[in-house]
Amino acid sequence: MHMSGQTAFTGAAKTGPTLISLKDVVVDFATRDRVVRAVDGISLDMPEGGFTALVGPSGCGKSTVLNMVAGLLKPSAGSVTFEGRPVDGPNTRVGYMTQKDTLLPWRTVEDNVGIAFELRCRRSERGDKAARVAEMIERVGLKGFEKHFPSELSGGMRKRAALARMLIYKPSTLLLDEPFGALDAQLRLIMQKELLELVDASGMTVVLVTHDLEEAVSLADKVVVFTSRPGRIRAVRDIPIPRPRDPATLRFTDAFRDHCAALWDELRDEVAAAMATPHA
Ligand SMILES: Nc1ncnc2c1ncn2[C@@H]1O[C@H](COP(=O)(O)OP(=O)(O)O)[C@@H](O)[C@H]1O
Ligand SMILES: [Mg+2]
Repeated sequence: MHMSGQTAFTGAAKTGPTLISLKDVVVDFATRDRVVRAVDGISLDMPEGGFTALVGPSGCGKSTVLNMVAGLLKPSAGSVTFEGRPVDGPNTRVGYMTQKDTLLPWRTVEDNVGIAFELRCRRSERGDKAARVAEMIERVGLKGFEKHFPSELSGGMRKRAALARMLIYKPSTLLLDEPFGALDAQLRLIMQKELLELVDASGMTVVLVTHDLEEAVSLADKVVVFTSRPGRIRAVRDIPIPRPRDPATLRFTDAFRDHCAALWDELRDEVAAAMATPHA
């Protein structure tokens, strides 16, 4: 475990070139009567092909970090770069799954997944639409449910549809904000395993926000613990557990438990600190 400081954290189990880099990032939000510092001096490098999990108490700036990588928010100070260039405007290389799956309730599964073609894909690609939609729906295990509306699906199926809608853009990087938070424990394990298979097969880079330490250790090769607000980096831990991994059985191994215990040692104080201060 390295402790936080002014240096950027590197040295994950995966050692590709740096894809995403945050340097001395500060984010201030102006509210009606004051300025809230959400993020306070974060430096973090994420390698291409790496799987990084961000954990920390609610309100510590995790979603804010994803928003900056996605290009939806600019830092107040410091820099956020992607492939060596400052993120300036919406980052079309990333697929972003926000905490709420925002499927359009009046559209079927296939029309939700196909919306990419209306919004973002080049006109010349539109001819492939039906085939690409079918391929993505099959890839996430929703074949047979193309004509269903979101209200006719279970929570897990809605998450799958949201995943398919994100993957159709063929993103090189996934930003996932508490993707399985609302699912029951068993379903979460199944979805985690499917995500790992997908990511391992494609070599995508992933940044996952989760409040669930076990989820972070199961999936990631680097776990970053944030302090309570304003968010700083408290600790970074590499998780050199070999892949492929099965989250359902991994949990019973000593290595898994050791990683969780060490991370909880760091997180515990921050959760307590976050509870002691009124949440903005
Ligand atoms: N648009 C905004 N305007 C004002 N305050 C915000 C805004 N977005 C986030 N915040 C505040 O910044 C802090 C960090 O938010 P967020 O990144 O959503 O935390 P997390 O995802 O870790 O729970 C919180 O205190 C939140 O209230
Ligand atoms: Mg959040």
